[in-house]
Amino acid sequence: MSTIPELLIKPSTTALNAAERAAKMANPAFGRTFTDHMVVIPYRDGAWQQGEVKAYGPLSLDPSASSLHYGQAIFEGFKAYSQPDGSVKAFRPEANAERFNRSARRLAMPDLPVELFLKAADELIRLDAAWVPKNIGESLYLRPLMIATDPFLGVRPSNEYLFVLFASPAGAYFPQGVKPVTVWISEDYVRAAPGGTGEAKCAGNYAASLVAQAQAQEKGCDQVVWLDAVHRQYIEEMGGMNLFFVYKENGKTIVVTPELTGTLLPGVTRRSLLDLAKDLGYEAEERKLTVQQWRDDVAAGRLTEVFACGTAAVITPVGHVKANGFEFRVNNFENGPVAMALRDALLAIQHGTTPDRHNWMHTI
Ligand code: COI
Repeated sequence: MSTIPELLIKPSTTALNAAERAAKMANPAFGRTFTDHMVVIPYRDGAWQQGEVKAYGPLSLDPSASSLHYGQAIFEGFKAYSQPDGSVKAFRPEANAERFNRSARRLAMPDLPVELFLKAADELIRLDAAWVPKNIGESLYLRPLMIATDPFLGVRPSNEYLFVLFASPAGAYFPQGVKPVTVWISEDYVRAAPGGTGEAKCAGNYAASLVAQAQAQEKGCDQVVWLDAVHRQYIEEMGGMNLFFVYKENGKTIVVTPELTGTLLPGVTRRSLLDLAKDLGYEAEERKLTVQQWRDDVAAGRLTEVFACGTAAVITPVGHVKANGFEFRVNNFENGPVAMALRDALLAIQHGTTPDRHNWMHTI
């Protein structure tokens, strides 16, 4: 028997009409337009309370709410896709629900039952189904978050929290679409250190990345690449995305991604691509990789493509690498065939144009 709290459905009285919605969805880009509804579920007295699905709008928070001061704030991101038969399916939302709880534990926040996370998503997507784009490459991006709401300035875990889920029609994350990016290898900043919060999807990790991203842009780059905090040699991530390196050895194609050492975010797209790579006949490995290897292996012609992956941008090729004292190109600054084959295979599953062999799609 389910013990999760009920969600009260309160349809918005100010929902946009079809023409207004179509205008907002015409060129969705990323993260600019929000649907008519959102879910809010409060936590107090040691339990999740009855939540609401209601009109999207501002939250009311006490200025002393502890998330505003001490950063108990986590989030997730996943997508729902329109299917050829007109239904809507979400891509691996349970994986995001599970990671949400791992992030919550690291930030001393309460778990949200996976069932409640999925119910919130199902109700919101059902109510805002007209907002799910139909075009290939477009989707409805779901943004769950949890913040501490105790009106208290002492430094300790909050007793009260708010879970919020809202949705945004999404097209390309990067304005240039799927084109190679230039990256700056950061030596001045680190994203995560052993024992820190690197594997949690918490707001502070993103705040701490912004100055490094700004430095990358000053250096003429699109994105920052993070190195490990101890040796300053091992490649970790690109901005908020995981990285993949494509090797050609003795006629084999091997996709390599940095192993999860505790300082990397365990990406759902990363995990899915490791499986898809095998489906496509490639080998897939998780291991450590240094910047020196990256340089040497590109120069030797063994390392033929590099790409970043994440929910928002799916797959983004890396075409040019800059660092203090050196720079080099990868794959002649072109989209590589392996990156594009993986991207097409993933999008085909998400849009329901190929069988979902791994049972990744969640029917709404
Ligand atoms: C993603 O790749 O989905 C991300 O995590 C980026 C997001 C924070 C916009």
